[in-house]
Amino acid sequence: MNTSPIGVFDSGLGGLSTVRAIKKLMPNEDIVYFGDTGRVPYGTRSNETIETYTAQDIKFLRSFGCKMIVVACGTVSTVSSKIISDINEPSTGIVFPSAGAAAAATKNGKIGIMGTSATVNSGAFNKAIKQYNPEAEITAVPCPLLVSLVESNFINIDDEVANAAVEHYIKPIIENGCDTIILGCTHFPLLSPIIKKHVGEGVALIDSGLEEAKYVKTVLKEKGLENTPEHKGVQKYFVSDKTQNFSTVAGALLGEDITESCEFVDIFKYI
Ligand code: DGL
Repeated sequence: MNTSPIGVFDSGLGGLSTVRAIKKLMPNEDIVYFGDTGRVPYGTRSNETIETYTAQDIKFLRSFGCKMIVVACGTVSTVSSKIISDINEPSTGIVFPSAGAAAAATKNGKIGIMGTSATVNSGAFNKAIKQYNPEAEITAVPCPLLVSLVESNFINIDDEVANAAVEHYIKPIIENGCDTIILGCTHFPLLSPIIKKHVGEGVALIDSGLEEAKYVKTVLKEKGLENTPEHKGVQKYFVSDKTQNFSTVAGALLGEDITESCEFVDIFKYI
Protein backbone atom coordinates (compact mmCIF):
# COMPACT_ATOMS: atom_id res chain seq x y z
CA MET A 1 0.00 0.00 0.00
CA ASN A 2 1.23 3.50 -0.80
CA THR A 3 -0.75 6.73 -0.34
CA SER A 4 1.54 8.97 -2.42
CA PRO A 5 0.10 10.49 -5.60
CA ILE A 6 0.66 9.36 -9.18
CA GLY A 7 2.45 12.07 -11.20
CA VAL A 8 1.20 12.58 -14.74
CA PHE A 9 2.47 15.09 -17.31
CA ASP A 10 2.08 16.15 -20.91
CA SER A 11 3.19 19.02 -23.13
CA GLY A 12 -0.30 20.42 -22.71
CA LEU A 13 -3.78 19.22 -21.96
CA GLY A 14 -3.81 15.99 -24.00
CA GLY A 15 -2.47 14.01 -21.06
CA LEU A 16 -5.77 14.63 -19.32
CA SER A 17 -7.03 11.72 -21.45
CA THR A 18 -4.73 9.53 -19.32
CA VAL A 19 -5.95 11.24 -16.13
CA ARG A 20 -9.56 10.62 -17.17
CA ALA A 21 -8.82 6.91 -17.55
CA ILE A 22 -6.83 6.68 -14.28
CA LYS A 23 -9.71 8.32 -12.40
CA LYS A 24 -12.12 5.77 -13.86
CA LEU A 25 -9.96 2.68 -13.38
CA MET A 26 -8.34 3.69 -10.07
CA PRO A 27 -10.76 5.98 -8.19
CA ASN A 28 -8.72 5.60 -4.97
CA GLU A 29 -5.58 7.16 -6.38
CA ASP A 30 -4.43 10.76 -5.89
CA ILE A 31 -3.05 12.42 -9.02
CA VAL A 32 -0.78 15.41 -9.60
CA TYR A 33 -0.98 16.59 -13.21
CA PHE A 34 1.30 18.98 -15.00
CA GLY A 35 0.44 20.35 -18.45
CA ASP A 36 3.14 22.46 -20.07
CA THR A 37 0.55 24.68 -21.76
CA GLY A 38 3.02 27.57 -21.97
CA ARG A 39 5.39 25.60 -24.22
CA VAL A 40 3.05 23.29 -26.16
CA PRO A 41 3.55 21.90 -28.81
CA TYR A 42 6.64 19.79 -28.11
CA GLY A 43 6.30 17.66 -31.24
CA THR A 44 7.75 20.17 -33.67
CA ARG A 45 10.83 20.91 -31.52
CA SER A 46 14.32 19.41 -31.58
CA ASN A 47 15.08 16.32 -29.51
CA GLU A 48 17.45 18.37 -27.31
CA THR A 49 14.71 20.85 -26.43
CA ILE A 50 12.17 18.09 -25.76
CA GLU A 51 14.67 16.37 -23.45
CA THR A 52 15.33 19.61 -21.53
CA TYR A 53 11.59 20.15 -21.07
CA THR A 54 11.11 16.50 -20.05
CA ALA A 55 13.75 16.76 -17.31
CA GLN A 56 12.08 19.90 -15.91
CA ASP A 57 8.60 18.36 -15.98
CA ILE A 58 9.81 15.24 -14.15
CA LYS A 59 11.69 17.31 -11.58
CA PHE A 60 8.52 19.25 -10.81
CA LEU A 61 6.44 16.08 -10.35
CA ARG A 62 9.11 14.40 -8.24
CA SER A 63 8.86 17.31 -5.78
CA PHE A 64 5.50 15.79 -4.74
CA GLY A 65 7.08 12.44 -3.83
CA CYS A 66 5.05 10.66 -6.50
CA LYS A 67 4.99 6.86 -6.32
CA MET A 68 4.87 6.56 -10.12
CA ILE A 69 5.67 8.94 -12.98
CA VAL A 70 3.33 8.64 -15.94
CA VAL A 71 4.44 10.26 -19.17
CA ALA A 72 1.12 11.05 -20.81
CA CYS A 73 2.76 12.48 -23.92
CA GLY A 74 3.62 10.51 -27.04
CA THR A 75 6.37 12.91 -27.98
CA VAL A 76 8.15 12.72 -24.64
CA SER A 77 7.58 8.94 -24.47
CA THR A 78 9.30 8.42 -27.81
CA VAL A 79 12.02 11.08 -27.77
CA SER A 80 13.04 11.09 -24.10
CA SER A 81 13.04 7.34 -23.47
CA LYS A 82 16.54 7.46 -21.94
CA ILE A 83 15.50 10.09 -19.37
CA ILE A 84 12.35 8.12 -18.57
CA SER A 85 14.26 4.88 -18.03
CA ASP A 86 16.55 6.71 -15.57
CA ILE A 87 13.67 7.79 -13.30
CA ASN A 88 14.05 6.21 -9.83
CA GLU A 89 10.33 5.68 -9.31
CA PRO A 90 8.30 3.22 -11.41
CA SER A 91 7.39 5.00 -14.66
CA THR A 92 5.78 4.48 -18.02
CA GLY A 93 5.25 6.20 -21.34
CA ILE A 94 2.47 5.50 -23.83
CA VAL A 95 4.41 3.42 -26.37
CA PHE A 96 4.40 -0.16 -25.09
CA PRO A 97 0.85 -0.19 -23.68
CA SER A 98 -0.56 1.13 -26.99
CA ALA A 99 1.62 -1.05 -29.19
CA GLY A 100 0.52 -4.15 -27.28
CA ALA A 101 -3.14 -3.17 -27.54
CA ALA A 102 -2.83 -2.53 -31.29
CA ALA A 103 -1.05 -5.83 -31.91
CA ALA A 104 -3.86 -7.61 -30.04
CA ALA A 105 -6.62 -5.70 -31.85
CA THR A 106 -5.52 -6.01 -35.48
CA LYS A 107 -6.95 -8.82 -37.60
CA ASN A 108 -5.11 -8.11 -40.84
CA GLY A 109 -1.76 -7.07 -39.27
CA LYS A 110 -1.98 -3.57 -40.78
CA ILE A 111 -1.57 -0.89 -38.15
CA GLY A 112 -1.67 2.88 -38.60
CA ILE A 113 0.06 5.32 -36.25
CA MET A 114 -0.94 8.96 -35.92
CA GLY A 115 1.57 11.00 -33.92
CA THR A 116 3.54 14.20 -33.84
CA SER A 117 6.48 14.64 -36.22
CA ALA A 118 8.97 13.90 -33.42
CA THR A 119 7.11 10.72 -32.48
CA VAL A 120 6.94 9.40 -36.03
CA ASN A 121 10.58 10.32 -36.73
CA SER A 122 11.70 8.42 -33.62
CA GLY A 123 10.35 5.12 -35.02
CA ALA A 124 9.64 4.05 -31.42
CA PHE A 125 6.10 2.82 -32.08
CA ASN A 126 7.23 0.78 -35.11
CA LYS A 127 9.91 -0.90 -33.02
CA ALA A 128 7.51 -1.69 -30.18
CA ILE A 129 4.82 -3.09 -32.49
CA LYS A 130 7.40 -5.31 -34.21
CA GLN A 131 8.27 -6.80 -30.84
CA TYR A 132 4.68 -7.97 -30.50
CA ASN A 133 4.21 -8.84 -34.17
CA PRO A 134 7.31 -8.91 -36.41
CA GLU A 135 5.09 -9.29 -39.52
CA ALA A 136 2.99 -6.18 -38.84
CA GLU A 137 2.68 -3.69 -41.71
CA ILE A 138 2.87 -0.20 -40.27
CA THR A 139 1.81 3.13 -41.74
CA ALA A 140 3.03 5.97 -39.52
CA VAL A 141 1.81 9.48 -40.32
CA PRO A 142 3.08 12.70 -38.70
CA CYS A 143 0.06 14.88 -37.91
CA PRO A 144 1.69 18.13 -36.71
CA LEU A 145 -1.40 20.33 -37.01
CA LEU A 146 -3.67 18.21 -34.86
CA VAL A 147 -2.13 19.14 -31.48
CA SER A 148 -2.62 22.85 -32.14
CA LEU A 149 -6.17 22.23 -33.34
CA VAL A 150 -7.01 20.46 -30.06
CA GLU A 151 -5.30 23.09 -27.87
CA SER A 152 -7.20 25.76 -29.82
CA ASN A 153 -10.50 23.94 -29.26
CA PHE A 154 -11.12 22.96 -32.91
CA ILE A 155 -12.63 19.66 -31.77
CA ASN A 156 -16.28 19.83 -32.72
CA ILE A 157 -17.32 16.85 -34.87
CA ASP A 158 -18.49 19.22 -37.63
CA ASP A 159 -15.53 21.58 -37.46
CA GLU A 160 -14.47 22.20 -41.06
CA VAL A 161 -10.78 22.78 -40.34
CA ALA A 162 -10.40 19.75 -38.07
CA ASN A 163 -12.25 17.54 -40.58
CA ALA A 164 -10.05 18.73 -43.44
CA ALA A 165 -6.86 18.13 -41.44
CA VAL A 166 -7.93 14.65 -40.28
CA GLU A 167 -9.02 13.69 -43.80
CA HIS A 168 -5.64 14.78 -45.13
CA TYR A 169 -3.56 12.91 -42.53
CA ILE A 170 -5.66 9.74 -42.47
CA LYS A 171 -5.51 9.17 -46.25
CA PRO A 172 -2.39 6.93 -46.43
CA ILE A 173 -3.62 4.92 -43.44
CA ILE A 174 -6.93 4.20 -45.18
CA GLU A 175 -5.24 3.56 -48.54
CA ASN A 176 -2.95 0.96 -46.95
CA GLY A 177 -5.96 -0.90 -45.50
CA CYS A 178 -5.10 -0.54 -41.80
CA ASP A 179 -7.79 -2.03 -39.53
CA THR A 180 -6.26 -0.55 -36.36
CA ILE A 181 -4.95 2.95 -35.64
CA ILE A 182 -2.89 4.00 -32.64
CA LEU A 183 -3.74 7.52 -31.54
CA GLY A 184 -0.06 7.96 -30.70
CA CYS A 185 -0.53 11.39 -29.20
CA THR A 186 -2.62 11.90 -26.09
CA HIS A 187 -4.32 14.93 -27.64
CA PHE A 188 -5.88 12.82 -30.39
CA PRO A 189 -8.59 10.97 -28.42
CA LEU A 190 -10.39 14.34 -28.45
CA LEU A 191 -10.55 14.03 -32.22
CA SER A 192 -11.81 10.40 -32.10
CA PRO A 193 -15.34 11.27 -33.25
CA ILE A 194 -13.92 13.05 -36.33
CA ILE A 195 -11.37 10.30 -37.01
CA LYS A 196 -14.11 7.64 -36.71
CA LYS A 197 -16.22 9.55 -39.24
CA HIS A 198 -13.39 9.32 -41.78
CA VAL A 199 -12.24 5.73 -41.20
CA GLY A 200 -15.62 4.09 -40.61
CA GLU A 201 -16.77 1.65 -37.92
CA GLY A 202 -14.62 -1.33 -38.93
CA VAL A 203 -11.36 0.31 -37.83
CA ALA A 204 -10.24 0.05 -34.19
CA LEU A 205 -8.87 3.24 -32.60
CA ILE A 206 -6.36 2.66 -29.81
CA ASP A 207 -6.66 5.38 -27.16
CA SER A 208 -3.10 5.75 -25.84
CA GLY A 209 -4.29 7.41 -22.61
CA LEU A 210 -6.63 4.56 -21.77
CA GLU A 211 -4.05 1.85 -22.55
CA GLU A 212 -1.48 3.68 -20.44
CA ALA A 213 -3.89 3.90 -17.49
CA LYS A 214 -4.58 0.14 -17.72
CA TYR A 215 -0.82 -0.45 -17.54
CA VAL A 216 -0.45 1.90 -14.53
CA LYS A 217 -3.09 -0.15 -12.73
CA THR A 218 -1.16 -3.36 -13.42
CA VAL A 219 2.12 -1.85 -12.15
CA LEU A 220 0.60 -0.50 -8.93
CA LYS A 221 -0.99 -3.87 -8.26
CA GLU A 222 2.14 -5.89 -9.01
CA LYS A 223 4.32 -3.63 -6.85
CA GLY A 224 1.82 -3.37 -4.00
CA LEU A 225 1.62 0.41 -4.44
CA GLU A 226 -2.16 0.84 -4.55
CA ASN A 227 -3.85 3.35 -2.28
CA THR A 228 -6.31 2.16 0.38
CA PRO A 229 -9.70 1.10 -1.01
CA GLU A 230 -11.60 3.51 1.26
CA HIS A 231 -9.62 6.56 0.03
CA LYS A 232 -11.33 8.85 -2.46
CA GLY A 233 -8.75 10.04 -4.99
CA VAL A 234 -7.94 13.76 -5.13
CA GLN A 235 -6.52 15.47 -8.21
CA LYS A 236 -4.24 18.50 -8.33
CA TYR A 237 -3.71 20.24 -11.65
CA PHE A 238 -0.83 22.52 -12.62
CA VAL A 239 -0.13 24.33 -15.90
CA SER A 240 2.65 26.62 -17.11
CA ASP A 241 0.07 28.99 -18.66
CA LYS A 242 -3.68 29.34 -18.29
CA THR A 243 -4.35 29.68 -21.99
CA GLN A 244 -7.50 31.07 -23.54
CA ASN A 245 -9.04 27.69 -24.34
CA PHE A 246 -7.74 25.94 -21.26
CA SER A 247 -11.10 25.53 -19.50
CA THR A 248 -12.94 24.31 -22.59
CA VAL A 249 -10.34 21.74 -23.64
CA ALA A 250 -9.76 20.49 -20.08
CA GLY A 251 -13.52 20.29 -19.57
CA ALA A 252 -13.99 18.32 -22.79
CA LEU A 253 -11.29 15.86 -21.74
CA LEU A 254 -12.33 15.42 -18.11
CA GLY A 255 -16.04 16.11 -18.21
CA GLU A 256 -15.63 18.59 -15.33
CA ASP A 257 -14.51 22.18 -14.87
CA ILE A 258 -11.07 22.34 -13.26
CA THR A 259 -10.50 26.06 -13.81
CA GLU A 260 -10.70 26.92 -10.11
CA SER A 261 -8.60 24.00 -8.87
CA CYS A 262 -5.82 24.46 -11.44
CA GLU A 263 -2.67 26.32 -10.41
CA PHE A 264 0.04 28.08 -12.38
CA VAL A 265 3.59 26.81 -11.95
CA ASP A 266 6.77 28.53 -13.08
CA ILE A 267 8.37 25.49 -14.70
CA PHE A 268 11.58 27.41 -15.44
CA LYS A 269 12.41 27.12 -11.73
CA TYR A 270 12.84 23.37 -12.12
CA ILE A 271 16.24 23.09 -13.72
N1 DGL B 1 0.10 15.14 -26.16
C1 DGL B 1 1.37 15.26 -26.82
C2 DGL B 1 1.78 13.94 -27.42
O1 DGL B 1 1.19 12.94 -27.02
C3 DGL B 1 1.33 16.40 -27.76
C4 DGL B 1 2.65 16.65 -28.40
C5 DGL B 1 3.02 18.06 -28.70
O2 DGL B 1 3.00 18.88 -27.80
O3 DGL B 1 3.35 18.32 -29.85
O4 DGL B 1 2.66 13.83 -28.23
